Amino acid sequence: MRAFLIIGNKAVTKPFNLNDLPGAGRMDILCRCVAQALFISHGIRRDVEVYLLLLGEPEPPKAVLIKGSEVKYMAPDERNIGGILRKALGIEVGKNWKKSSPGVYVAKKSLEELLDELPYKIIYLREDGEDIRNVKLHDCLFVLGDHIGLAEREEKEVLRRAWKVIKVSPLSLQADQCIVIVHYELDRVGTSI
Ligand SMILES: C[S@@+](CC[C@H](N)C(=O)[O-])C[C@H]1O[C@@H](n2cnc3c(N)ncnc32)[C@H](O)[C@@H]1O
Repeated sequence: MRAFLIIGNKAVTKPFNLNDLPGAGRMDILCRCVAQALFISHGIRRDVEVYLLLLGEPEPPKAVLIKGSEVKYMAPDERNIGGILRKALGIEVGKNWKKSSPGVYVAKKSLEELLDELPYKIIYLREDGEDIRNVKLHDCLFVLGDHIGLAEREEKEVLRRAWKVIKVSPLSLQADQCIVIVHYELDRVGTSI
């Protein structure tokens, strides 16, 4: 399996206007990350899980999980993915994952709770990390920030559990671009992590 966790510092935790994804705490960024993590040409990567941590108002934190192995009726455009996330945010949730549509689950979880329950080695993607080509990656969760990056508190929690800090480019890229590069690097060495 390959897994990605994207931290949405301002991403809203209630249903939002699909005509204004950026205004929903940059939900557009999270939608692009989901698209790049899951979709290939005419298909879905069934070995991928995407976790979104939403830290915006009014009910932070909330986590959304999208399982490539189960997802149905999802298209790669931001509006379609936004609609699926919107639906997930419309249901009442507690600490346990609750299904909101095929392959999509939502829960009231903090970053710590999420990181502690996941069975992956944690890789923090950051511009000053080790070159991705120098590391053998197996069963990893790749953690990324949104346009803001990771706030100090979240970064501390991630670093406390991280196996490695890795860079994918000498440039600071957008989160969805980093996901594409991670897939490319893992695909080209033939690992199906
Ligand atoms: C748009 S960047 C965040 C930029 C933000 N201004 C900052 O300073 O953190 C979004 C996320 O992509 C990841 N990222 C960007 N460039 C990267 C790189 N070259 N290598 C690894 N991760 C990168 C990081 O996880 C970052 O939090």
